[in-house]
Parts: sequence; C-alpha cells; structure tokens
Amino acid sequence: MRFETIAIHAGERPDRTFGAISTPIYQTSTFAFKDVGKTRGYDYSRTANPTRKVLEDTIAQLEGGKAGFAFATGMAAETTILHLLKAGDHVIAGDDIYGGTYRLFQDVMRAFGLEFTFLRMDSSRIIEDAIKPNTKMLWLETPSNPLLNITDIEMAVNIARKHDLLTAIDNTFATPCFLRPIEYGVDLVAHSTTKYLNGHCDVVGGAVVTTTDELTQRVQFLLNAMGTCASPFDCWLVLRGIETLPVRMKRHEENAIAVANYLKGHPSVRRVFYPGLESHPRHEIAKRQMKGFGGIVSFELKGTFEVANNFLRRIKVFALAESLGGVASLAEHPATMTHASMPKEHREKVGITDELIRLSVGLENIDDLIEDLSQALELD
Ligand SMILES: Cc1ncc(COP(=O)(O)O)c(C=O)c1O
Repeated sequence: MRFETIAIHAGERPDRTFGAISTPIYQTSTFAFKDVGKTRGYDYSRTANPTRKVLEDTIAQLEGGKAGFAFATGMAAETTILHLLKAGDHVIAGDDIYGGTYRLFQDVMRAFGLEFTFLRMDSSRIIEDAIKPNTKMLWLETPSNPLLNITDIEMAVNIARKHDLLTAIDNTFATPCFLRPIEYGVDLVAHSTTKYLNGHCDVVGGAVVTTTDELTQRVQFLLNAMGTCASPFDCWLVLRGIETLPVRMKRHEENAIAVANYLKGHPSVRRVFYPGLESHPRHEIAKRQMKGFGGIVSFELKGTFEVANNFLRRIKVFALAESLGGVASLAEHPATMTHASMPKEHREKVGITDELIRLSVGLENIDDLIEDLSQALELD
C-alpha cells in the first residue's frame, strides 16, 4: 500500500468484531480471560489495547519501521527512549532542539547519571570530536525547533554506525509524510503526536517506532513497566487525524512557502528561517532528504523584544499559543514560551533571540493569513 492508503487502512481495519469502519474506542482497562492463562489477545490496557494497536501499527507502517508504540505525550515517548540507556552513558544531541527535550535531558535525566553534549549537528568532524568512550546515542531533531536547522541524517547515521551508537530522531516537524528517517538507517523515531499526526490541537500524545526485534522488545517492556502509554480515546483522536495527514501536510506546506516568501521581503523582518527557501544554508540537504519542507516558519524581527511583543498582541487570525501542527495557525515567542526552560545563555548561543517568532502555518485561506501578518507588522 502507498502512504495515503496506509494512513487510512493500516492495522486491523475494519475492526474484527463487527466490521466497524471507524476503529472502536476500546475504553476498557482490562479484558476477560478465556480460561486461566488464556487471553483473547489482550489482558490489561497498560500492556496493550486494541485501539492503541491500530494506531501503533499505522505509525510503524508510515515510518517504514518494525513496530510502533503510542505514548501519553511526546515527552513520555522521549523519556521511554532514554531508559534504553543506563547511568554513565553519554548522549550527543542537537543544540537547538525543542526546549522540553533539552529540559528532560539536562534537568531530569542527568540526575540519573546520563551525560549530554549539545552541539550544532552540521559537520561530521564536530560530532566525531564529541564522541567519548561512553557515548551511546545520537539524538537528532531535523528540522529543529524553533530554528529549522537541518541535519544531514545520512552523515549522522554513518558516524553512529562507525562508533556503534544508537540513533534516535524526533520526526515531529516533518512527519513521515515529508521525511522517513528509517530509510537513512535511523534506529528509533520519536513523535509528539500532539502536533501534525493528530493535527487538530485536541490531544497530547507521543509515539516511538523501532527497527529491530531487540529494540521492539525493550520499548514494549519499558512502556509497560513505566506506564507511559496513551489512553484509548487519545489514540483514536490521533488515528482519525492521521487519516488526513497527507492532504493536510501538502496544504500546510503551500501556505508556509507563501508566508516565508512574504516575510522574506518585509522591511520589518531581519531573517526568515524556512528550509524551503533557497537562502536557507541547508536548503540543498533538506531538498535531498525530505519530500516537503513542512509548515513551520520562524522569523526574527528588526528591533527589540518590545517589537516582537507588539506583533504578537496584534495578530488576529494567528493565535498566540504554544504547540504547532494543527489546522489553525498559531504564533509563539520561543524565548518566553516553548524554549523558556533553556537557560538564556544557551538560547543566545544557538540563536534563539528575544525577537524570534515561530509560526505554525495552518490551513486557512492564505490571503487571510498574509493580511493578518501584514496588519500585525505595521509597527508604529
Ligand atoms: C519537536 C517536539 N518534540 C517533542 C515535543 C514534546 O511533545 P509533547 O508536548 O506531546 O509532550 C514537542 C512539543 O512541543 C516538540 O515540538
């Protein structure tokens, strides 16, 4: 089956019991055994649930992986991946990753004995120089949040293979519609399904896709042991969202390209960050490894924090809100919102300035979006 068809038909669809076309929400914590020691395939919903299973199979197939797992949040998915490691292990991660990921690594997992190095993943020399005898994992996020930096995945995987490291990638921004990291040899794919996979801002969720039997068994064990799984209803919402993922992503991208081009020519804008622009320093790599550039556009305003503040106060169609990837357009201020948990010195070092705005370009009519940006940029 091809991508659009997998998005609608993967997993056990129609449902086995009555042939329901919309996957039933198996809103149950537990399942009656047929006999002592004999289940009907499910025993307890933390371990596995039929609604969750359809979602997990769908995401695994969309990513081209071995197995999928659905988590309560994107952070629960990431936390579970990090538990594949043990105290004393070292992880190399991108330096402008999602602020919550940075916080999980620095302020939570470090206390359990993991070590982290954050760096710009744009040259093999920089990555190789950071590898130590205890390095066990490369953590990639491409395009990155919020600066839309692009990592050459093939280059990172080659280094990882040479040094026997696991590679994990956060594929939230691109989605498997535009980027299939497993085709480049990545071992584990993580998602915040809260974003494009769900697409309607009505759920928080996460996912992991594995590529080997060993990783599949370990992630299944950890999900069950740690209890980080998603609820049946949340799985159903994400599953319904995924059915329209390919059409939504196409329109997100069309609108984002128009927004990026509009902002690029605006006198109040200092810089636009969008991998689809030829001026993006890694545009050629993005073009080679992705099928589309996505729906997120960041830009820096000329002036000070006050200028960014004024812009955010004036937007009307775009809502000032965290998160991204929904049908409705959102704007946010990384320095005080999604990346506030990063220390200011780190933010400044990597280029997340006080004048930076991140837009999640939605599916509204593009003329309304441009008109909204235009009136909000009329700075006085
Ligand atoms: C790239 C990325 N990864 C992970 C997460 C965390 O996901 P969640 O909010 O579902 O826990 C986010 C949330 O903003 C994100 O943008």
